[in-house]
Parts: sequence; structure tokens; C-alpha cells
Amino acid sequence: MKKCPPRLVPSILSADFARLGEQVLEVQQAGADRIHVDVMDGHFVPNLSMGAPVVQSLRRVTRLPLETHLMISNPDHFLEEFAEAGADSFLVHWEGNNNLHRTVQRARALGKRVGVAVNPATPAAVLVDILPDLDQVLVMTVNPGFGHQRFIDTTLEKIRRVRRMIDQINPRCDLEVDGGIDAVTAPRAVDAGANILVSGSAIFGDREGAAAAMHRLRAAVADGSITAD
Ligand code: DX5
Ligand code: ZN
Repeated sequence: MKKCPPRLVPSILSADFARLGEQVLEVQQAGADRIHVDVMDGHFVPNLSMGAPVVQSLRRVTRLPLETHLMISNPDHFLEEFAEAGADSFLVHWEGNNNLHRTVQRARALGKRVGVAVNPATPAAVLVDILPDLDQVLVMTVNPGFGHQRFIDTTLEKIRRVRRMIDQINPRCDLEVDGGIDAVTAPRAVDAGANILVSGSAIFGDREGAAAAMHRLRAAVADGSITAD
């Protein structure tokens, strides 16, 4: 069976916030699948980023789905606000959530797609009982909190493990990777089983611009799969 090409998801954490609407339209035109919005609270991760007003503003400029990656301590307290602002999906972390199933059901009750994210040190096995309820798994390939970090190689084995679990338990679930994804690491992550690639600095930090960077990423993945065969 022919595999679909992986989808590219720009993370606006590395965008120029003074030109955010413009930059989102540029990646939309270049074929972005959705927009990844990193929400950080300075507590769950050692950094602050953005909140629901950014989602609300972006909702007015793009037709792309807005995916909110909630790197916050109490995601349940914010789901409604983000849903009202126009978020289309939630990525909530396994770490620190004693009631993950409840969080997932709450996101679903708001009519949103939902995924669970796991940090680099978290084993794939924790996903086994929640996987049937998910649209997506996010394997973090860096420690969350900052853009422009180096891809952690040991996560590749976990991506493979999660791919096997998804194929067995819930084949319609997507496998997304986030952190340090560029033209070198993207083909490796895809080869391990990822079908959605989040990328921030490799897209918005590119000297030739975001559209050129997306073309290059796509070409790298296509070349990578030719050599992998
Ligand atoms: C990191 C965020 C990522 C970040 C990725 O905590 O979750 O989405 O924007 O940035 P790059 O692609 O630069 O590693
Ligand atoms: Zn993210």
C-alpha cells in the first residue's frame, strides 16, 4: 500500500509575532496542513508563550485548523476558552495529569480533536489504555519549552514503538513529532513511523523564507523515503 506523504505543521513559536498573520498566510499558501500553537505557562515548562487571544486573532486570518499544544499545568481550566477562541484540536501532556482520561473526554465533549503528548523520558507504554480514545499521539523529540533545540536521537526508537502500538490498537490515529525537526531529522522521524511533522525554527527561521523551507523539508522527506527503500 502506498504511504501518504507526511503532513507539515508549522509551529508559530518561531514566527515573527509582529507579522504573524502574514507568516501564517505564507505557510498556508505553501501547503501547511494546520498551524501549531504552543501554549506555555512558565510552570509546566520553564517558559511563557501565548494564550487564547492569539488563537482568536489567527482564526480570523486563516482557514487552516489551529492545533493547540498545551504545555500547561491545568489544561482542563483552559479548554473552553481555547475552544471559544477557535481552536480545532488539543494536544495535552501525559506528564503531571492525574486525570488524563477526563481531560481527553472534556476536549472531545467540546467537539475537538484530541491528542496526547509524551516527553522524551516518558515511555511509549503509558499510551496503551488511552490510545483508543485519541485522534493523535505527539511524541516530543525535544524537552518541551523552547524552539530551536536539537532533536533527541533516542526518541526514534519510541516513535517506532508508538507506530506499532497505533497500528495494532487504533490505526486511524496520527503520529506527530515535535522538536528539532529539519531537513535532516524529518526523514528519520518519518522512517520511524511519524506521519505529521511539527517544525518551528526550520520553517520560520529560514533565511530564504518559510515557503522555501517547507519545500525543502518536503523534498528531504521524499528523498529520504527513496533511500530508505
Ligand atoms: C517546543 C514546542 C515546539 C517548538 C518546536 O516546546 O512544543 O512546537 O515550537 O520548535 P523547533 O521546530 O524549532 O524545535
Ligand atoms: Zn509544540
